[in-house]
Amino acid sequence: MNELDALVEGAREAFAQAATPAELENAKALFLGKSGRITDLMKGMAALSVDEKKTRGAAINQTKQAVEAALTARRQALAEAELDLQLKAEALDVTLPGRQRGQGGLHPVSLTLERIEAIFGSMGFEVAEGPEIESDWFNFTALNTPEDHPARSMHDTFYVEGGSAQAPNLLRTHTSPMQIRHAVQHVKRHRAAIDSGAGMPEIRVIAPGRTYRVDSDATHSPMFHQCEGLWIGENVSFKDLKYVFTDFCRTFFESDDLVLRFRPSFFPFTEPSAEIDIQFQSGPLAGRWLEVAGSGQVHPNVVRNMGLDPERYIGFAFGMGPDRLTMLRYGVNDLRLFFDGDIRFLKQFR
Ligand code: DAH
Repeated sequence: MNELDALVEGAREAFAQAATPAELENAKALFLGKSGRITDLMKGMAALSVDEKKTRGAAINQTKQAVEAALTARRQALAEAELDLQLKAEALDVTLPGRQRGQGGLHPVSLTLERIEAIFGSMGFEVAEGPEIESDWFNFTALNTPEDHPARSMHDTFYVEGGSAQAPNLLRTHTSPMQIRHAVQHVKRHRAAIDSGAGMPEIRVIAPGRTYRVDSDATHSPMFHQCEGLWIGENVSFKDLKYVFTDFCRTFFESDDLVLRFRPSFFPFTEPSAEIDIQFQSGPLAGRWLEVAGSGQVHPNVVRNMGLDPERYIGFAFGMGPDRLTMLRYGVNDLRLFFDGDIRFLKQFR
């Protein structure tokens, strides 16, 4: 091997030993730098004749090119190695199983509430919501149930101190207070039309929500749901109640031959009052009367507490139990299952 080939070989080795770009630049200086080996060779040509310069110059040039090629190759190799390392460090294992998120679903009682809202919505009923912490006035007194009225004892609930229309003091025992709350707002909005004798648009509303009583067994829970209904106008009768509620039950249970029975009853806020029972003609519950709601013609005192003249405005109200409707619809026999939060039970309604 001649001196020039040895130089190229030496450069290749030095470059190969450089493990980083910085080390490589240092090695480059040894060969191609201002006082590097190639520069030394060039300087050495000064003493040569013209002919010798030609051949020697060409040979040195070749050597220089070979060293430069070795440098470029090593630069590339180092860059690729670095990229490789980076890719490995950032590698994703696409074969790992994905993280799964359980699919959620609505609670069965929520499904029922949606269904109730959709059906009554299609009959022109608004949906109203109101407070669960309620006052004596809305929960009882305004609903024709004065203090010491015996009907209050069936509605034992959770009380706190105090209590006035402005300072709520109990957990509402039913959604009926929403009759007053909603009607008062409606009447306020249409006061001018009412006073001028033109009259107001009918009140047609349902009010679903949570209610509370001191009660707990397989068919009673201290917290349960109710849905109130109210329809007040100038010519709304029991016949309309029968029609609307029959239509609702048949649609809700998808059963056209379902039969309703209005059984005389008593509620302080309606007169006359009726409990509504339904009977399926087929299926596992066929032939039994099942109670689903309380109802009646709104009592004149209640109409008055809405801010309306009971001589002119009349209508009906009803209150049903969405929990019970859910039990009947799905064949659930213990109410407590709805509120235990057991995923194995809830999953079945997804
Ligand atoms: N609020 C009554 C209860 O919880 C149910 C009820 C009965 C509501 C008759 C009504 C009604 O609107 O007219 O027992």
